Amino acid sequence: MNPRRMASLLIALGLVAGCAAPGTAPSGPQAVAPSDRRTYGDVIIGFSQLGAESEWRVANTNSIKDTAAELGLELRFSDAQQKQDSQIEAVRKFIVQKVDLIGLSPIVETGWDEVFEEARAAGIPIILVDRRADVPEDLYTTYLGSDFLEEGRNAARALVEVVGSQAEIVELVGTLDSAPANDRFRGFREVLREYPDLHILDSESGDFTRARGREVMDEFLRRHGARITAVYAHNDDMAVGAIEAITAYGLRPGVDIKIVSVDATRSAFEAMLAGTLNATVECNPLLGPQFFELALKVINGEAVPKWVPSHEQVFFPDDAEDILPTRGY
Ligand code: AHR
Repeated sequence: MNPRRMASLLIALGLVAGCAAPGTAPSGPQAVAPSDRRTYGDVIIGFSQLGAESEWRVANTNSIKDTAAELGLELRFSDAQQKQDSQIEAVRKFIVQKVDLIGLSPIVETGWDEVFEEARAAGIPIILVDRRADVPEDLYTTYLGSDFLEEGRNAARALVEVVGSQAEIVELVGTLDSAPANDRFRGFREVLREYPDLHILDSESGDFTRARGREVMDEFLRRHGARITAVYAHNDDMAVGAIEAITAYGLRPGVDIKIVSVDATRSAFEAMLAGTLNATVECNPLLGPQFFELALKVINGEAVPKWVPSHEQVFFPDDAEDILPTRGY
């Protein structure tokens, strides 16, 4: 195993500690006196989840709900089923209910200013979880989640490891205007600039779902056929859809058409073991414990960093057998 893969493995197995975000700044309300400190048992937290579009999202929701139950705190959870309007409505409801803090995983980046202003006017802090919103920094307390830009760069680097410096790539983009789709799109292209013979033949949204991933891949194959030599999928669900489409077309996924995706779900490891997926870039959904720890700090007026990043690893098929049993999602 080369040193990079060994480092990946150690971190994935939890043997290497994480580090704090650079450039952190204190934030949140005034610190409270020790005697007035709140505990998990006496806070109410609202959480607006964007939907249940992927395995990743289901694992993320379970992590939030299970951790709340373990900590014994009152969680008001709302699933917006992929609609921004429903998320805005949920935040307004939490404001009326006077929750202590709101967690929000925004479906898209834009269109949040007004409702964030309303939360601020009501004195309720917002923590962005998993996805960023394009709002002024003083409208939210902290962002807990991945570096999506780096994930895009890592996907491109992984693709180079898999295909070398020449490929005809099709790209399955995530939900349009979402932070991960925007950043994975940009990060990938940043690295591709160094490789003039890696061409993006086509790029279209598969909305982060397996069903749309398959449909869009069917369409790519109709348009470009066997010219396609590689797929970059913004998540594993769409990659699994693409694997189905390629197989149905009569080509061998992972062999005739190489595939790199993002999330590192159990399905991705199973596909790597089956030889149909060539690499997956990790994006960690198990954010419940970190979210509630941050939330309590914020409620108690403690300083928190403006960004709490999760670890990002890249996995290849030769890691799959060791790592699959350790995957929590
Ligand atoms: O925001 C994280 C992304 O959303 C995951 O990569 C994707 O699977 C999910 O739907």
